[in-house]
Amino acid sequence: MQNFILGVPFNLGAAVTGPEFAIDYLFGEYPELKNTIEVINPLREEEDLLDIKRKFINSVTATGKVVSQRVRELVSDGYRPIVIGGDHSISLGSVSGVLAEKDAGVIWIDAHGDLNTTETSPSGNIHGMVLAALMGHGDTKLTRLNKGKFLKPEKVLLFGARDLDPGEQKFIEANNVNVITYNEIREQGLEASLEKAREILQVEELHISFDLDSVDPQYSPGVSVPVEGGFNKEEILEIFSALFEYYKITSVDLMELNPLTDKDGISVDFAKELIDFLNGI
Ligand code: ARG
Ligand code: MN
Ligand code: MN
Ligand code: MN
Repeated sequence: MQNFILGVPFNLGAAVTGPEFAIDYLFGEYPELKNTIEVINPLREEEDLLDIKRKFINSVTATGKVVSQRVRELVSDGYRPIVIGGDHSISLGSVSGVLAEKDAGVIWIDAHGDLNTTETSPSGNIHGMVLAALMGHGDTKLTRLNKGKFLKPEKVLLFGARDLDPGEQKFIEANNVNVITYNEIREQGLEASLEKAREILQVEELHISFDLDSVDPQYSPGVSVPVEGGFNKEEILEIFSALFEYYKITSVDLMELNPLTDKDGISVDFAKELIDFLNGI
């Protein structure tokens, strides 16, 4: 299957400045990328700026809709979309676009759960609500994007989480979300954890939603919400390799690169390495 790289320079789901520059910084490091990427311009809608429980929701959903349509089209044309952010709210678009065409599972590789709703979110930032919305929970402006084709809990796996909010813990219990936490992976080893992932996710096709903050900030400081600890680069490549071996990978997200918090360009380099890896598949 042929990859098709989409770039979405969008930051409003994280409500910080930085992620919108990821594509530009990647171009600096990786000029060839310019010839193989299609950049989707984010939409900026009018917002109720006093509504701090769902920050920039109109821009997030408008942009998500465009991403969703394009991803759907690419999947139906037989491509494997590789969607580069931008913040993780973009996955509302990418995953809903894939689900419109495919009965795929989703692995969410992230330090966080992104399982908040407007009620439980400590920040009001929508990048922390996306997975819940894809499962049908939260503000209807978010949930209506995937037109009723919600992700069923048995098709979702949170892999490597190490910072879950109290509301997310409750969500996981109430909705039977599959989680292999970062601590469990450390205890059981990566190989055994990947085997466990394979037992949990009984699907043929899989979407990989990768949040760069799943990596230890030591090896990838260029993110918006860093959490201590986490995977190293080799482990991430091992995870990707195993998933490509176990499943038919329909699509991949590469989210949350923030070049403004990066040090010596190491996160930008890492993102480039990952894209190279995917292009070699
Ligand atoms: N749990 C926190 C929140 O909901 C952080 C979410 C970070 N999400 C991300 N995609 N980086 O605000
Ligand atoms: Mn995260
Ligand atoms: Mn937290
Ligand atoms: Mn995330």
